[in-house]
Amino acid sequence: MTLLHGMVLLAAVVFVVAIVARGIRIARTPMHLRWEIYPVPHEGKRSAHGGSRMEETDWWTKPIHKDHLREILVMIPEILFLKAVWEHNRPLWFPSWTLHFGLYLLIGNMFLIILTALLAMVGVALPMEVVHTLITILAWAGCAIGTIGAITMFMKRAFDPKLKMYTNPSHFFNIIHLGVIYVAGLAWLATDAAYGAHVVALYKSLFTFTTATDLSMAAYVHIGAVILFFIYLPFTHMTHFFTKYFTYHDVRWEDEPNLPGGKLEEKIKKVVSQPVTWAAPHIGADGKKNWADLVAGTGAIEDKKESK
Ligand code: HEM
Repeated sequence: MTLLHGMVLLAAVVFVVAIVARGIRIARTPMHLRWEIYPVPHEGKRSAHGGSRMEETDWWTKPIHKDHLREILVMIPEILFLKAVWEHNRPLWFPSWTLHFGLYLLIGNMFLIILTALLAMVGVALPMEVVHTLITILAWAGCAIGTIGAITMFMKRAFDPKLKMYTNPSHFFNIIHLGVIYVAGLAWLATDAAYGAHVVALYKSLFTFTTATDLSMAAYVHIGAVILFFIYLPFTHMTHFFTKYFTYHDVRWEDEPNLPGGKLEEKIKKVVSQPVTWAAPHIGADGKKNWADLVAGTGAIEDKKESK
C-alpha cells in the first residue's frame, strides 16, 4: 500500500462518514416551517395550474397519491441545468452552470472509470479503445467546461458589486480549488496521449492495492486536489448537492395533512412547546413562554391589545 492508497482510502472514509452523519443530523432536526409554495409537482396533473388535492371536498379523508415521476421531472432540469438560477438570476447562470456541469461530467466519468476497472478486473472483455476514448472525451469536456466556470465565477465574485456583498473568502477558496482540479486535469490530458488507459490502470491499482504506473506532475496535482476536495466538501455549504433534497421535500413541497392523533401532530406539538427566546419585543418572548402560549395570546401582542 502506497501513500496514494492511504490518501484515497482516507478521503473515501471521511467523505462517506461525514455525509451520512450530516444527513442523519438533518433528518432528525425538528420539523421546518413548511412553505407549501405551489406548484407542488407531486400533485400530478393539478400541479400544472398550481393546484392541490385541497381543491377537493373532504380532501383529508381521501388517500394521498403522490406523483413521484413528476417530482423527478422537475428535479432533473434543476440539477442538470440549474433551472431556478436561469429563471431568477440569469447573469449568474452561465458561470454557475459551467462550474457545476464540468463537475457533473467528471463525476460521471469517475463512475465510468470505476466500472471499466472493475469489469476488466473480473475478466469481462470490453472494447477498450472505445472506452478509453470515451473516458478521454468526457475528461476533456468536464475539465474545459469547468475551467470556464471557475474563471467566470471567480470574475463574477470578484467584480460584481451586488454579489460582492454576499461573498466571503470561502467562496473564492472553493472556486480556486475547483479551478485547480479542472486546470490540472487539462494539463494531464494535454501531456498524456494514453490518458484513458492510464486512468483506468490507476483505478485498478487502487482496487488491487498494487503500485500505480508513474504519472506526470500535472496528474498528481489533479489527483491530490480531488482527494482534498472529497475530504473537505462534507464540511462546507457544497453539501447542498444532497441537502437540497430536504429543502425540496421537507420544506418546499411538504403538504402532508395534519390529522388528529397523527405523526405530524406529534411533531408539531413538540415544536410549539419549545420556549421562545427571540429578542424582538413585539414577540413577547421571555424564555419561559413557548410558541403555543404566544400564539394563544398570552404574549406581548395580545397583552398590548388588551391594555388599549
Ligand atoms: C458535488 C456537487 C456540487 C458541488 C461541489 C457544488 C458546488 C457549488 C459551489 C462552489 C457553489 C458556489 C458558487 C459561487 O461561488 O457562487 C454552488 C452554488 C450553487 N449550487 Fe452547487 N454544487 C454541487 C451540486 C449542486 C446541485 C446538484 C445543484 C442543484 C440541485 C446545485 C445548485 C447550486 C445553486 C442553485 C447554487 C447557487 C448559485 C451560485 O451561487 O452559483 N449544486 N455550488
